[in-house]
Amino acid sequence: MNKKIIVTGGCGYIGSHTVIELIKNNFQVVIFDDLSNSSQDTIGRIESITGVRPVFEQVDLKDVNHTSQVILKHKNAFGVIHFAAHKAVGESVQKPLDYYQNNLYSLLNTLKAQHENGIQNFIFSSSATVYGNPKSLPITENNQTQRPFSPYGNTKKMAEEILEDFSKAYTDFSAISLRYFNPIGAHESGEIGELPNGIPNNLMPYITQTAAGIREKLMVFGNDYDTTDGTPIRDYIHVVDLAKAHVKALFRLIENKQEQALETFNLGTGNGFSVMEVIESFERVSGIKLNYEIVGRRPGDVPQLFAATDLAHHKLGWKAELGLDEMIDSAWRWEQKYRATTTAK
Ligand code: UD1
Repeated sequence: MNKKIIVTGGCGYIGSHTVIELIKNNFQVVIFDDLSNSSQDTIGRIESITGVRPVFEQVDLKDVNHTSQVILKHKNAFGVIHFAAHKAVGESVQKPLDYYQNNLYSLLNTLKAQHENGIQNFIFSSSATVYGNPKSLPITENNQTQRPFSPYGNTKKMAEEILEDFSKAYTDFSAISLRYFNPIGAHESGEIGELPNGIPNNLMPYITQTAAGIREKLMVFGNDYDTTDGTPIRDYIHVVDLAKAHVKALFRLIENKQEQALETFNLGTGNGFSVMEVIESFERVSGIKLNYEIVGRRPGDVPQLFAATDLAHHKLGWKAELGLDEMIDSAWRWEQKYRATTTAK
């Protein structure tokens, strides 16, 4: 059995897919989750996919004492992969303090407790939102970061700054921050996938829920951008590719290949697709005509974001392998399978 890894937010969307890849690579996984935006059922689903049931600790990482106690129990862990965070952009604008409190306290408490227990390796779930509206494309890791448009985005930027200071202060601490572009899709089994609470904010779950008849129609937020068809362009990445990148980052830490105490990598495919191209791909893959309407722009949306992927390729030995149709096909299969087994709306 390989090393023990603590995965905070391991019952969530990206966390659960990463747990599967870690188990496939023989890591011993301990999930920390408060189940505030996820379900404990995910653990059984991970077990049915991998044949291994990860250890589960229900812990609210905002609670400094409980976090310390639980990390102490697992002080033989090699490192932490930290996914646990609130992630709804719109909600974060309405409730900024909740977002700062939840996302930053959980980070601070985890760092403090792991440091006290001699766990020196950390992988952070960051976002391309830290680039704001970039001046040049594709976006390299050297692009200047900007104040993100939302408190959610700002917690990611602040967290990276905290990690930078922390890694400077403690030379035995090593961290990798992974800046995700737009993760979509689901595991090929159709057992796990994205399950937003209530009305989805993001494009892909909105599309699949509309096709499933749960939402009446998709609102396309603006077709007057300076792009090929006027709708915004994003770098969509399959969640399973993204999960694999975490395993690669972990091996970089294990093999001690880091060139700096805190390293940052973009995780995207390098290809941009417009909202209309995503809709067309969905219609082709599913054979369903999607009900949609072009409406006004959504505040805070930028015209184009896509990643330069060379750094992750060269230093992590990782490259996204799955294309847009595969992402959409897996998301649609997950939606149908999930709806067939539940009455959730
Ligand atoms: C947002 C966040 C990002 C976060 C990501 C995943 C910002 C600026 N972006 O990315 O940090 O990591 O979500 O949670 O904070 N769209 C529609 N109709 C919809 C929904 C979306 O037309 O109902 C369009 C949007 O205008 C956008 C594209 O689809 O052009 C993608 O939107 P979305 O899936 O919400 O992701 P981002 O806003 O790119």
